[in-house]
Amino acid sequence: MSNFIGIDLGTSSVKILLTDERGKILASSTRPYDVYRPQEGWSEQDPEEWFQEVLEGLEELNARDVAGISFGGQMHGLVALDREGKVIRPCILWNDGRTEEETAYLNETVGREKLNAWTGNIAFAGFTAPKLLWMYRHEPENFAKIDKILLPKDYLAYRFTGEFSTDYSDASGTLLLDVKNRCWAEEMCEICHVSKEQLPALHESYEVIGTMKRSLADALGYGEVKVCAGAGDNAAAAVGMGVVGEGGCNVSLGTSGTLFLSSDSFSDVHGKPLHSFCHADGKYHLMGCILSAASCNEWWVHRVLRAEDYAAEQAGLEKYLGDNDVFFLPYLAGERCPHNDVTARGAFIGLNAESDRGQMTLAVLEGVAFALRDCLEEAKACGRAPQATSVCGGGARSELWVRVLSNVLGISVCGPKTTEGPAYGAAMLAMVGCGVYRTVDEAARAIVRVLWTREPEPELVARYEKKYQKYKQFYPALKGLF
Ligand code: XUL
Repeated sequence: MSNFIGIDLGTSSVKILLTDERGKILASSTRPYDVYRPQEGWSEQDPEEWFQEVLEGLEELNARDVAGISFGGQMHGLVALDREGKVIRPCILWNDGRTEEETAYLNETVGREKLNAWTGNIAFAGFTAPKLLWMYRHEPENFAKIDKILLPKDYLAYRFTGEFSTDYSDASGTLLLDVKNRCWAEEMCEICHVSKEQLPALHESYEVIGTMKRSLADALGYGEVKVCAGAGDNAAAAVGMGVVGEGGCNVSLGTSGTLFLSSDSFSDVHGKPLHSFCHADGKYHLMGCILSAASCNEWWVHRVLRAEDYAAEQAGLEKYLGDNDVFFLPYLAGERCPHNDVTARGAFIGLNAESDRGQMTLAVLEGVAFALRDCLEEAKACGRAPQATSVCGGGARSELWVRVLSNVLGISVCGPKTTEGPAYGAAMLAMVGCGVYRTVDEAARAIVRVLWTREPEPELVARYEKKYQKYKQFYPALKGLF
């Protein structure tokens, strides 16, 4: 039996999973790294550091009989390489807010309608195209050196194989892809001053893009290893959760939070603040993305409370459910969907002399759920109203948070046996690439099993509905004051 490796190149760490071809997890390794913030609102990482951590992680795994390897990666990051294949500057990440002007130029001057027609999407500050414009304006010497442009996980694939490739799901988040027709959008390349030769070759997520370099495979003790294109982390997570084909829904409570709706066909969102992207199963998805989700809880517990034990902070908070007067706006890094505002910031609202630590902790979890509800409302406006969702990411380990989520969204929430999300989905993509399964859909049906389901509770749904109606009014009232 062959084994497969899935690599999730996240924002706070890289997670690597070794599975057999039935999806049984044999080993895993997680290696953390830092986000560098050279200025307020900026966020960067060093691709070389990713690669070194991946190598260490692979050594730790000590895997044998590896047939295939694939990736799920943090999306939208700009990795620019020179003619020698060297990284020109640190990668500008998905949650970096420096491109306010470039984003406004794309949306207002070029115009949302044109962007929507060419790519299926409008511009958001985290997307790759505004980053290219920023680099063109602010770092012309660096820009002139660009020979190849890659997304974060594609840099790993390049180091493994020497190939410049990407997949359609991740390419969708560049704003350079004509999502509907699965090809680079020439108009956008022109606007961003790049040629198609500088962009990577496009593949389906499960396609083999090359084999691991002999020297690397020897060093790791592997035989011939096929490297498959992989997917953006949300699409990879959806695969790992079995959310493929028409009508699926997955929520991710990771550093970012996403509401991911899979579908067989492309959806025209007509300039709405949702992402209309390709999926890793060869089809499409709609997605709402909030920039801070589990990261809000981490900020609150670690940085503010200076505590370590998340479960202890949440113990006994059920008594406040539906009855918490404290609200939290989770815009610690600005907000993507639905506000598309890099200047938005977090806030606690409604504190009184009796408010305590527990209410504030719960408010953080509720605020993230309300922000995801905003995404759900946008999806409903596009005619997509899921009745159920799966949930993954670090936040999914909290029963309390899942309960809040189910009642705020008003839909049932389920969790599969394996909640490793992107890394698991990446391993499944490698299985498809290596021919163990014919399609991603077949792999999902064979491998993913639901373990638990939580139904919404009508009384709490009604209470949270009232709270959500209030929550919705805070951002418009505070906009411009942040
Ligand atoms: C999606 C997005 C985030 C990152 C996080 O559009 O920006 O979910 O992919 O890794």
